[in-house]
Formats: sequence, C-alpha cells, structure tokens
Amino acid sequence: MNSLGYTPVVFSSSIDDHLALRQFSLSDAEQAYALIDHDRERLSVYLPWVESIHCVADQRRSMTPLVEYDPDARLSCWLTYDDAIIGAAGLPVIDRDALWGEIGYWIDSAHEGKGMITAAVRELERICFTDLGLERVQITVDARNTRSRAVPERLGYTLEGVLRHHLVSGHGVIVDQCVYGLLKPEWQARALVDPV
Ligand SMILES: CC(C)(COP(=O)(O)OP(=O)(O)OC[C@H]1O[C@@H](n2cnc3c(N)ncnc32)[C@H](O)[C@@H]1OP(=O)(O)O)[C@@H](O)C(=O)NCCC(=O)NCCS
Repeated sequence: MNSLGYTPVVFSSSIDDHLALRQFSLSDAEQAYALIDHDRERLSVYLPWVESIHCVADQRRSMTPLVEYDPDARLSCWLTYDDAIIGAAGLPVIDRDALWGEIGYWIDSAHEGKGMITAAVRELERICFTDLGLERVQITVDARNTRSRAVPERLGYTLEGVLRHHLVSGHGVIVDQCVYGLLKPEWQARALVDPV
C-alpha cells in the first residue's frame, strides 16, 4: 500500500512464453545490482549511470524516481526470462503533447545476441502505438554502438540524423548521437509484411 492508501498496479507484459517486461520495483534492487555488478565493465562502456552504482543502496536510490509508471512521462521495466531479471527495456520519455515515446534498453552478456532486445522493442512499440496512442517512437544511440544501432536498423527505423557532440556516453565521453524514428503508419505497414 502506498502513502495514498492504495496498492498501485504493477505493469507487466509478456512477450513470449519466457520473456516479459515488468515494471521496476524497489524490491528488485538486490537482483538488479547483482546483474549490473557482474557485467559492470561491459555495460559501463555505453551506460554512464553504471559508474554511479556501487552497492544495493545506490541501485535502490537510482531506481526510486523511476518506479512509478506514469503514462504521461515514463515506463521503466525489467526484461525478465522466466521471471529472472536479464536486462531492462522501457520508455524513458513519453511525450503526450507531441505523441512520441523513446525506447531504451540493455541486456546482460549471457542473453545478448539472441533477439531478445528486438522482441522487447517490438512489444514496446505495440504499447506505444496501441495502448498509449502515440504516433512516433524513437531510439537514440551512441554512434559508436553498432550492436545497439543494429536493433532499430533491423526493425526498419529511419536514421533521421546524427547529432554531433551531443551525448555523454560511458566514462563521461562526449560522442555523436544517432536518432532513429518509426512512425505509426510505418509500424502498421511493417506488421503486414513482418507479422511477429
Ligand atoms: C545493445 C544491446 C541491448 C543489443 O543486444 P542484442 O542482444 O545484440 O540485441 P537483440 O536482442 O536484438 O539480438 C540481436 C542478435 O540476435 C540474433 N537473433 C537471433 N534470433 C533473432 C530474432 N528472432 N530476431 C532478431 N535477432 C535475432 C541476431 O541475428 C543478432 O545477432 P548478431 O548480434 O550476432 O548479429 C546489447 O548489446 C547491450 O545491452 N549492450 C550494452 C548496453 C547498451 O549498449 N545499451 C544500449 C544503449 S543505447
């Protein structure tokens, strides 16, 4: 029960028989910290926040502003495999005025390279275009991050621009940032030729 006297509904969405998106909860902090700490060196190359997480308390503190699902602002989810956290995927930005959302993601090394992030992005697209009524989704990526760029490219997004010297990436390095976009009619057209 929260301070307003009700138990908030936890958002979850299954992707297939094993994979699911599950809204952040502070009770997951220990499991999430263990995963991030184990993969720290790899994740910190592109995720600058990893360097500020040194213990479970840091993990809990970093999650605190993100735990509430606000359809007018953000949705932060774990990616789970048989209920175990293997990464995160969500909507760090939901812009209700301009009707767009931004998708973000990471996955642990043991589950990388199996199409699970692509599957999670497809589910987040469905949430954006159907549940939230948005008209555009975007994915922004460090231009050097070829594995991450491959995700929107595989899904037919348009590379709309490269913002030069625009993103603080891992280890505080300032890099060029690619902006990929997908509009609702493009998503609908893709579903006709590429149904999941
Ligand atoms: C970026 C990142 C999330 C990409 O993860 P990923 O596992 O490569 O992405 P996907 O789940 O889409 O998997 C794609 C791979 O699975 C393979 N695959 C297998 N089945 C597949 C399927 N059904 N659909 C799509 N791809 C499939 C693809 O061929 C591809 O393999 P390849 O890399 O050998 O070419 C991951 O590398 C990561 O977490 N990196 C560190 C953090 C980071 O950079 N986050 C992004 C910040 S913007």
